[in-house]
Amino acid sequence: MSQEFALVQRLSSAARRAVGLTRETRRHWRTRPDDIQLSWGFPYPASFPIAELLEAAQMGLGKEGDRALQYGGGDACRRLERWVRDRLQRRGVQLDEMDCLITCGSSQALGLVAQVMVDPGDLVVVEGPTFMGALRAFRNAGAQLHQVTLEDDGPDLRALREWLQQRLRGGQPMPKVFYTVPNFHNPTGCCMSLDKRRCLVELAERYGFLIVEDDAYGDLRFEGEDLPPLKAFDRQGVVAYVGTFSKTIAPGIRIGWIFGAEPLIAAMARLKADGGTSPFVQTVVAYYCEGANFDRRVQVLRANYRRRRDVMLHALERYMPADCRWTRPQGGFFVWLRLPEGIDSRELLVKAIDHGVSFVDGRPFFADVEEGARYLRLAFCYVPEDRMEEGIRRLTQALGELLETGP
Ligand SMILES: Cc1ncc(COP(=O)(O)O)c(C=O)c1O
Repeated sequence: MSQEFALVQRLSSAARRAVGLTRETRRHWRTRPDDIQLSWGFPYPASFPIAELLEAAQMGLGKEGDRALQYGGGDACRRLERWVRDRLQRRGVQLDEMDCLITCGSSQALGLVAQVMVDPGDLVVVEGPTFMGALRAFRNAGAQLHQVTLEDDGPDLRALREWLQQRLRGGQPMPKVFYTVPNFHNPTGCCMSLDKRRCLVELAERYGFLIVEDDAYGDLRFEGEDLPPLKAFDRQGVVAYVGTFSKTIAPGIRIGWIFGAEPLIAAMARLKADGGTSPFVQTVVAYYCEGANFDRRVQVLRANYRRRRDVMLHALERYMPADCRWTRPQGGFFVWLRLPEGIDSRELLVKAIDHGVSFVDGRPFFADVEEGARYLRLAFCYVPEDRMEEGIRRLTQALGELLETGP
């Protein structure tokens, strides 16, 4: 028996589950310099405020001194939490009774919420499609996933209500969590309507599950009216609100947060056991947020992403065959595209990579993976505007070849 094999045998069941899942999604990753990465959901590099972060680091370390480098951090960490709290309160959310945990990106918040809420076999409801990182977090915790179809204006709540009623009548266990991305959803770019926001909170109150509201893209609306977070309708502590600086400052700083009822946050803090989310980085970000005109920065980002979205939509209209359908997001990073009948997005990806363009196959976004076979996610956030049209042209060429010859 090889050492490696022996080690794999000893991995925990959670680790073996996680390793098996990631192997599948890594298969197609390879890059060449000329490749156009419509798969990468990354902020465009020129958006990173490098000079301002340098200044904030100098000021933060200069003023806070050793407290910025000690376990637990100094006052700047508390000020950062207050800054985040104030900003969310300005969006109509009452947070007086809500505790907060600053985490290593919102990914850690999702992982922790899954750990504290889910025992193996517990039911978690997700939108189909949804953010694959959240699917991974809940699967890692051993959740049994129930998928609710995502419509243009959010999850199909009629179907959800019927399913909940049926389970209640049948005496079956109820779900513990409903995970949702209500603003500029990853991967579809869609938003949940106001009515559905209210209705979902009512369902959570009535049937006793926790809503995990992931608002990673909430700041990045470039068209239409802002909608209140679900948390704004929460009177009973049934919503845990998750946010991040990854899209508005930079993902490399790895600062996210979760607001929720005290017992939830306390349990998460106990399980976190990582010595605290970098006090040094929290200090830098606190000084950055206090010094920068954050609202102005968000306006600039919105204008930029809007332009990128427009370039992508324009190219799609110009090149894609008539029987393709795609979303027209009012914010965020992504367009979601449905392929013509009979075309499989995984087969298209193999061809597209040969043509020097990548996207994300729809499958990993679904709990019921084969539902993603006709879909793909295109990111307009990362690729330079002057490469976007060429990316869509290459993609259409790959699609044209598949349509001509068949898979
Ligand atoms: C919907 C959603 N939630 C959470 C995350 C994770 O972000 P973070 O960098 O804060 O961990 C992402 C990242 O792509 C995302 O799309």
